[in-house]
Amino acid sequence: MNDNREQFSSKLGFILAAAGSAVGIGNLVGFPVNAAKNGGGAFLVIYAIFVILICLPVMVAEFAMGRHTKKGPVGAFGTLSGQQPFWRGAGLIGVITPFMIGVFYTVISVWILGYLIMAAVGELEYLASPDSFGQYINSPYIFAAMLGVAAIIYLILKLGVQDGIEKASKILMPALFVMLLALVGFVLTLDNASAGISFYIIPQFDKITASVVNGALSQAFFSLSLGMGILLTYGSYLSRKTNIVSSAKMVALTDTSVAFIAGLMILPAIFSFNPDVNPSELSDSSVSLIFVLLPKIFLALQTSIGFFAASAIATLFFLLVFFAAITSLVSIIEVPVAYLIDEKNKTRKQALTRVGAIGGGLTVACALSFGMVAFFTEMVTYGGGMKSFFDIIYDLFYDTILPLNGLLVCLFVSYRWKRHELNKELSVGNDEFEGSLMQKYINFSLSTFIPVILLAIFINTVAQKYFSSSLFGF
Ligand code: PFF
Repeated sequence: MNDNREQFSSKLGFILAAAGSAVGIGNLVGFPVNAAKNGGGAFLVIYAIFVILICLPVMVAEFAMGRHTKKGPVGAFGTLSGQQPFWRGAGLIGVITPFMIGVFYTVISVWILGYLIMAAVGELEYLASPDSFGQYINSPYIFAAMLGVAAIIYLILKLGVQDGIEKASKILMPALFVMLLALVGFVLTLDNASAGISFYIIPQFDKITASVVNGALSQAFFSLSLGMGILLTYGSYLSRKTNIVSSAKMVALTDTSVAFIAGLMILPAIFSFNPDVNPSELSDSSVSLIFVLLPKIFLALQTSIGFFAASAIATLFFLLVFFAAITSLVSIIEVPVAYLIDEKNKTRKQALTRVGAIGGGLTVACALSFGMVAFFTEMVTYGGGMKSFFDIIYDLFYDTILPLNGLLVCLFVSYRWKRHELNKELSVGNDEFEGSLMQKYINFSLSTFIPVILLAIFINTVAQKYFSSSLFGF
């Protein structure tokens, strides 16, 4: 075991870093629209139940594997299985998945940085025009923004765990909370804000179908950064004094609160722009909401608050999303970086350069797949449509493999590493864990119904995505 491994300096620093990973674009826009479209309060309740009953035990397991081994996914699965090839393979998927998700997430973060700069320099009118998004993502400017994002991530990760990841989270996360609350405060003063809140909160149970339930679990899983090797890697930097279960609860609570509060910002804004909107008609994608609908809403604000203030609100919003994206990106890129440091004996700088070179190349290919280069834009046909390089990464790693990774963690801690070892690790820093109800629940859920549910989701996604059929008739 590596005793010189860097550590988070405090429990708070660790919680902010893990919450920084969890709070991302998914919380700020994905969650509110998903909730509003799919039953409002009814969705919120189902989501909260999933977070507590399914996601929390998986998060605890990831933290425990990381802290016990002081290694990332490959090292953790490898060490704890006696280097069995199957489990080392599982660890390797746990590194490739975040690396590839990091690629498409970087592209979206790059677009956000561009919108942030354009809003700040008074280009709101352009951002709200119908063709701006298509034009911007196919313009050379994105490569400048890409360099900007790469430089920020590089600088943070180069400084390591305490001075980089932890310090950045300690600055960016509180700033994010303040900006979010300020925006909610402002949005609630708009006409029709209450209609948006009602739509968001009043439960509509008739909207709850099997596919909505599936969607709520996928959203929760993604939102908490599970199955990405991130929390396992962050766990490897965790001190043995820290109580894992209580930290995990704080991370889940912070992430869910931010997602819920983001709804109090997004829905009133949408309703104040168009009181007759039917959220079920809103596009599924966070991308079209951030880059198409919201700029129009910001511009419309100029009639009541003036152009300057409208631009300031837009800038604040994009800064908020950008901060959320950066802390998530840092966490996901740390996974392959830690892998190269731990398993390939690279220095942090060498590891970053290598990840930057390969990841940078893939990110450029991804950014070119929106029309700039035909090869990347129209790569293959499956599931009834032509898919770009970006689509393939998204479908394969985010939609398909994420639940599979979660499944592997559950099976591993329950049946390979063994429950009593997991319990022993969770008792470190938590004297009351052994024999508690929490212990019984974590042991039972991880070895029974959670893997079954994750397996069902995985099979259903494969059937739907690649064979256009469905396991459960939805
Ligand atoms: N929890 C993040 C989100 O909701 O956006 C998930 C995530 C995505 C984390 C991408 C890290 C990342 F690079």
